[in-house]
Amino acid sequence: MLDASLQSARLSTIAKAQFFRYSIFCAALRPASKLGTIQHSGAMFRLNGNSRHHFEMRDAWAALVLLGMIFILQCPSTAQELNNPIWSDHDLNSINSMSLADLKPLLPDRSNRVADDPQAAALGKALFFDPRFSANGAVSCSSCHLPTRQFQDDLRVGHGIADVARRTMPLAGSAYQIFFFWDGRKDSQWSQALGPLESPAEHGADRTMIAQLLAANYRTDFEAVFGKLPELGNLPAHAAPAGSPEAVAAWAALTIEQQHAVNLTFANMGKAIEAFERTIPVPKTRYDAYAAALAEKDQAAANKIFTEAERNGLKVFLDQGNCFSCHSGPQFTDMSFHNLGLPGTSAETDNGRITATHTLKDDPFNCLGVYSDQKGPPACQGIRFMHLDKPDQVGAFKSPSLRGVAQRPPYMHNGQFATMHDVMVHYNNAPKAPFGTSELLIPRKLTPQQLADLEAFIQTLNVSDGSAE
Ligand code: HEC
Ligand code: HEC
Repeated sequence: MLDASLQSARLSTIAKAQFFRYSIFCAALRPASKLGTIQHSGAMFRLNGNSRHHFEMRDAWAALVLLGMIFILQCPSTAQELNNPIWSDHDLNSINSMSLADLKPLLPDRSNRVADDPQAAALGKALFFDPRFSANGAVSCSSCHLPTRQFQDDLRVGHGIADVARRTMPLAGSAYQIFFFWDGRKDSQWSQALGPLESPAEHGADRTMIAQLLAANYRTDFEAVFGKLPELGNLPAHAAPAGSPEAVAAWAALTIEQQHAVNLTFANMGKAIEAFERTIPVPKTRYDAYAAALAEKDQAAANKIFTEAERNGLKVFLDQGNCFSCHSGPQFTDMSFHNLGLPGTSAETDNGRITATHTLKDDPFNCLGVYSDQKGPPACQGIRFMHLDKPDQVGAFKSPSLRGVAQRPPYMHNGQFATMHDVMVHYNNAPKAPFGTSELLIPRKLTPQQLADLEAFIQTLNVSDGSAE
């Protein structure tokens, strides 16, 4: 369990699953019950007028039939099917739960006191696009997170100063996450932003360089949001607790107070960037229009929005494909981590979630650390309830949002699949994992037509380019 809200979401998923089984039972019962009623009344007729013993039998039959009818009448989809021949009530609930209309307002980030401050967001936006915070003066967050490309870069793996180990993630809606990155090694968006700045393959900057750039170029705006910049004194040009041996030695030579002042300024840069990222909207899609038409009980309008293939694909997504069990909610993600048995992966090169939990626990910029604005409950639920060393975390990565996914190949955390068809074939075959255990367990046994329908459905989540800006 990750936190209370997640727990209640999980509980409601369990409730939905039980409801689902009941619906299947009801669906199976319906044709049988029609037949049964006829046979029962036939039996009643034959029994009628015979001995007293038969009379009691008839009463028993009648009671049974009555009980059966009550049960059937309670089946939610019986009455509903008269209105909607395509979707059961259970389906309609699921469809609605993935609609943008069901996206709740962002919860406050208690670890960042300026998370929803417009002035901080304006500053964060400027910082997001500023290439000066990099070793070669050419890399900004927007070099990999392109606003016109759903804030990603269409590459197999991200490229800054050099190639990064994983694929760039899109940013719309990412503020809703509990854990950040494919492996969730960060527990806030402000702390996440500090990672790429110091990563040698991304910005390749370091924190004394960053603090000095902020003081030289953003002092007025920065102080308007965070108060007076700490006294930074005469800092070395490059120093950080990790990185080149020179930078590490220069960091060790600083006083504790100097290190703290630099860390505070560094963390505040992340907090301004988070404020900007929280303003990135999640664009509407054709799927949302379809869900809205169904919510209005307007099947005719819905039929004009989706083709038959797309509709069938949605059915497969919910039922046989079992996609909904991980890609649920308005962003089509359970925000959790799973091993899918992807090809080309190895425990040595990328272990996923199992290592990330330890990285997060030891991170001085985590939600419980001194740079977080609130450390106790109700903040920091993610890290406080985080499990360490669970076997199913080996090779597990975060379920990504599927909104806009068909427009940003290649797919998966390492760009393992070039086409959406390859993704579908992988799910259908559910191969054994190269390491750890795949959660896909068994092949789906979907027909080529069902796979094509599923692909058609995924396209209904396309977003229009630039609309995320
Ligand atoms: C060199 C390309 C590159 C640059 C530059 C870069 N990123 Fe990323 N971003 C990535 C990659 C790759 C990932 C996934 C990395 C991983 O999982 O290890 C990622 C992941 C993220 C995520 C996680 C999203 C989620 O859903 O968990 C956020 C947020 C993000 N980046 C924001 C930023 C910000 C803010 C900056 C600038 C300070 C930045 N990135 C700079 C490539 C880049
Ligand atoms: C057990 C949970 C689980 C199930 C079931 C599941 N997915 Fe996924 N999905 C994930 C995870 C986790 C990833 C990312 C894996 C990685 O990169 O290591 C993913 C990735 C994807 C991607 C690529 C996203 C991207 O940005 O690269 C697509 C498309 C996708 N899933 C579609 C589906 C479809 C369609 C189904 C049903 C046939 C399905 N998923 C079933 C968990 C799941």
